Amino acid sequence: MALYSEKVMDHFRNPRNVGVIEDADGVGEVGNAKCGDIMKMYLKIVDDRIEDVKFETFGCGSAIASSSMATELIKGQPVSEAMKLTNQAVAEALDGLPAYKMHCSVLAEEAIKNALEDYYTKNPDKRKEQ
Ligand code: FES
Repeated sequence: MALYSEKVMDHFRNPRNVGVIEDADGVGEVGNAKCGDIMKMYLKIVDDRIEDVKFETFGCGSAIASSSMATELIKGQPVSEAMKLTNQAVAEALDGLPAYKMHCSVLAEEAIKNALEDYYTKNPDKRKEQ
């Protein structure tokens, strides 16, 4: 069996939603101290929905594939749904990751949650509505 699923390879080779949102409503950046990889997520939120999401990842192939898949999973979703995204859901959507690469999907979950936290910090009234 191949070490990486076709979906992982596809999202690694053709990552979706790479880039920067200049006027983002929320930005989250996380890193893993052990491997040194860094992930940054930008969110554009309109009417409590993820209107747009982009990422920059300086990291391994699994981190790039995880960021790409995570953006696909939350794009167009209500903020409340994006908040529930887990790294397991990202890994499952990629048809699995090797056990020692699961931490790469954790970065994607954390980056999105940090970006949402940033959004709530800037819009405290929105947090109450949730
Ligand atoms: Fe660090 Fe993949 S090896 S995020």
